[in-house]
Formats: sequence, structure tokens, C-alpha cells
Amino acid sequence: MTKVDAYNEALKSGHYQKLTGLLGKYDNVRRFWEDEELGLYLRPYLERLVAQKTERSQKLRLLDLGCGSGDGLGIVTNITSNSSISEPNTIVIPPDMLEFYQGIDINEGLLRQARAIYGDKQNVVFVKSDFNDYDFSSEEPYDLYLANYGTLSHNTDEQTVELLNNIAKHSQDGALIMIDWLGRFSYEWQTLWTKDLDNNQWMDYAISYIYSGDWVKQPELTYFPLRIVGSQEVLHIYRQAKRKVGGSIVLRKLTDRSSFVGRHMDTAKYNPHCQPLRRLVNSLFEPNLCTNLDDILIFYVPRDGFPEANNYHQRLADCWNYLVTYTKALLEGSELPEALDETPLPLRRALSVMRKVVRVASRLGIGNPRASLVEPQLGYCLRELEMGLQQGLGCGHGLVAVFEVVK
Ligand SMILES: C[S@@+](CC[C@H](N)C(=O)[O-])C[C@H]1O[C@@H](n2cnc3c(N)ncnc32)[C@H](O)[C@@H]1O
Repeated sequence: MTKVDAYNEALKSGHYQKLTGLLGKYDNVRRFWEDEELGLYLRPYLERLVAQKTERSQKLRLLDLGCGSGDGLGIVTNITSNSSISEPNTIVIPPDMLEFYQGIDINEGLLRQARAIYGDKQNVVFVKSDFNDYDFSSEEPYDLYLANYGTLSHNTDEQTVELLNNIAKHSQDGALIMIDWLGRFSYEWQTLWTKDLDNNQWMDYAISYIYSGDWVKQPELTYFPLRIVGSQEVLHIYRQAKRKVGGSIVLRKLTDRSSFVGRHMDTAKYNPHCQPLRRLVNSLFEPNLCTNLDDILIFYVPRDGFPEANNYHQRLADCWNYLVTYTKALLEGSELPEALDETPLPLRRALSVMRKVVRVASRLGIGNPRASLVEPQLGYCLRELEMGLQQGLGCGHGLVAVFEVVK
């Protein structure tokens, strides 16, 4: 074999490429904002469940509905407890705690990808199946049911009520269900906002964002309907499911994720006012790459007639912009911006973090502390702002619900 063959072989393997978090399905926002945020929302409930299981010397069983490439497994098994800096990360579900993971999906291509990533293990299996026809009673109950990243937006509400009913009936006390729908009032699709919730349940969705700036040039993009929901609609689904299953399901959390950083911010396909904030936040998280902080300021354009959604977005945008401007002033050593009329606690915390980080970074003489230390922390602080200010209205790309089975 020649050296040319050797390099060609490496190229063909797909592993000889420049790694970047700036683009693609697993970009930095997906990994450091969205996946982690889902984990942080689930963590308190999961910790309790794991403690109960440990007490009973039992292990955890996980069912991932619409698992796609099996990402749910990675998300859940990488959730860390709030450990101190002197300890290595403490995983909430250590490998020996996982008894069984099953991912089900209707798409064979995605299942193949999942198997390629996670391999063939006895306790990790991927099966082709429609979750609406799934026979839950044919198996031992699971402890955690996941339907992440818009999976149940493929369902009608009736199907989701039935699915929740089936899960609640066949699972035990303490089981958790995490669902993540598309948020109705995301800024990404502001042109679709409506008050007529009954007659406007679906949006025509395209996975155009993976083509980056070239999506407009893709002539054959397939569009498919996805259910968009606000809090009222989730509560309606919840009440119907609760009635059907005789009360044994409780909504523990309803929360927005990915405000201003959803996939369609950059395409501006459903809202011409969108700025490419996902690309810019990807840049914040990218090591050795400096971001122009002026570009990341949000110019929120409200839509008349939607005071609740406008107030949420405007408040988050004000806090976001203040944090960015404040950080820029700290970096430049210039005068700090005048305080806002109201400084909510999540913003106060973020300002304090950025003060400390910039102070430390300015004393470091190694590498690129601005790009690799200050900017990623700014990215995390923006995420924390969202987590602290969100109201579970459906104003993010995703609206996340955590349910618990109570028997
Ligand atoms: C938006 S993707 C989410 C994938 C994955 N859960 C993740 O976290 O990235 C939705 C997935 O649900 C699957 N799906 C949609 N309807 C389904 C159904 N009725 N039964 C099983 N899978 C379904 C699709 O094939 C797709 O893989």
C-alpha cells in the first residue's frame, strides 16, 4: 500500500476531517446549550429517581421514542451532578446503573446510524417501530421515557394523549416522561403566531438549516407538518391524558428551550427579522475563535397583538443585550453601561460570573483567553439567562414538559 492509499483510507473513514462546532446537527449550540439544557431541566427529577432505584438495588430502564440516531442515550447518560471543581464530573446515571436502553424509530436509516454510533450491546438496542402502535404491555415497564427534539410534534394531540395514557398505565410509580415539542411562539416563526389555536396547529417544516447559507439553493427540500404548541395546548393535552389514565400522571415542569438560538434563526425562513444568532453563539463556544460582540446584540421586532410573547422576548433581549454590552466593556476596560430599570436575579448572577471570568482571563498569558475562556462563559451565561427568565409559554424553539407517573 502506498502512502497515497493510506491517506485516502483515512479520508474515506470520515474521521480525517476538521472538527468544528460551527455547523451541522451537532454544532456547539446543540451540544453546549440544547443538550445540556435538556439535561439540566431533567436533572432534579432524574436524581430523585436514581436515588429511589439505588435504595431498592434496582437499575434504570430507558425508552427513547423517535430516537433517531440515538442521541437521547448520550444526553441522559452525560448529565452530571453539581460537582465541585476538585472532583471529576459525577454522572447521574453511571454506566453500571443503566439496565437497558431501547430506542425506537420508524426510520431505518437513522436506526442504522444509531447502531453505528452505539454499537451492538446487549443492553442498548435500536428497533424499528411506530411508537403510536407500540405494545407497551409486552415488556417490563421503563423508568424514563424520552421524546426529544420535536418528536411528538409529529403526532396529533389525540395520538399524544393516547401515548401518555399507554405509558402511564404500564409504568410504575416514579417513572418520568420527557417531551419536547416545537414552541408555538418562537421568534423563529413569528409570522405564524396566531390567536386561533384550533385552526392553526401545524407548521410546514423543512430541515433546511443543515445546508447552512445554501438552503435557498436546495430546490427539492421536503416539507412536513409539525405540531407547534404553547402552554395552553400542552395543559389541554395533559388534562385529557390525566383524565384518561385516572389521575396517575403529573406535570412536573413546563419550560422553554432555545429562545433566539433555534435552528431557524439563521435561515430567517419564517421571520425576516431573525438575525443569525445561532451561528454567532456557535462562534462564542468555539475555542480560538473571537466573535464580534456587537453582532450578537438582539434587535427584537415585536408583533402587535401578542403582549405575553412580546414581553418575554423583549425582556430576554434586554437582559441579553445588557450582558453582552457589559462583557464588552469589561474586556475593553471602558465605562460599564447604565443599569437597566430592572435587573432580574439571573442577570445579576450572569454579570457577576462575567466580572470574575474577565478578571481572571485578563491575567492569563497563555493561549487566547478571550476566545477560549471568556466567550464560552458568555455563551453559558446567555443560556442561564434563558433558563432563569423563561416562563414555559412556548416562546423557545422547544417547549419541554417533564411528567411523572404517580401511583
Ligand atoms: C426531530 S427527530 C428527533 C430525533 C431524536 N429524538 C433526537 O433527539 O435527536 C424526530 C424523530 O421521530 C421519528 N418519528 C416520527 N414519528 C414517529 C413514530 N410515529 N414512531 C416512531 N418514530 C417516529 C422520526 O423518524 C425522527 O427520527
